[in-house]
Amino acid sequence: MKHIAWVWALIFAASLWSYTACAESQTSVKIGKKLFYGTSLGTNGKSCASCHKTIENIKKDTSKYPDDPALKNVINGCITENLKGKPLPDDSTEMNSLIIYMRSIK
Ligand code: HEC
Repeated sequence: MKHIAWVWALIFAASLWSYTACAESQTSVKIGKKLFYGTSLGTNGKSCASCHKTIENIKKDTSKYPDDPALKNVINGCITENLKGKPLPDDSTEMNSLIIYMRSIK
């Protein structure tokens, strides 16, 4: 009977490991922050933070758009116009992470 307990423990450990291993590709504030301060969304070496510099700015910009679809729209506008990048799909991990990062700033 002891064997069976070990097998279950191993299965549990393996599933925990795979859960944390794919956490990086799930929507998170951490990913959003990385995108906001990094230059990967565009092609001109700028980041969102190049223009939206202060926490006060970000807070004000985000609160103007209380509903997500409108916020996604302006973010994609900034990506294409100001970063010379490709718009993000509305339901992508990147877009949702940017949104939750910006909304996490209080
Ligand atoms: C080259 C400068 C620049 C870059 C880079 C930039 N933005 Fe903007 N962003 C602006 C300007 C200018 C506005 C319009 C502000 C206005 O009309 O008052 C704006 C507007 C916005 C708004 C709406 C707020 C408002 O006041 O209308 C949001 C949200 C936003 N940007 C997010 C982002 C995000 C996220 C990124 C990165 C993916 C980004 N921006 C990159 C300059 C930039």
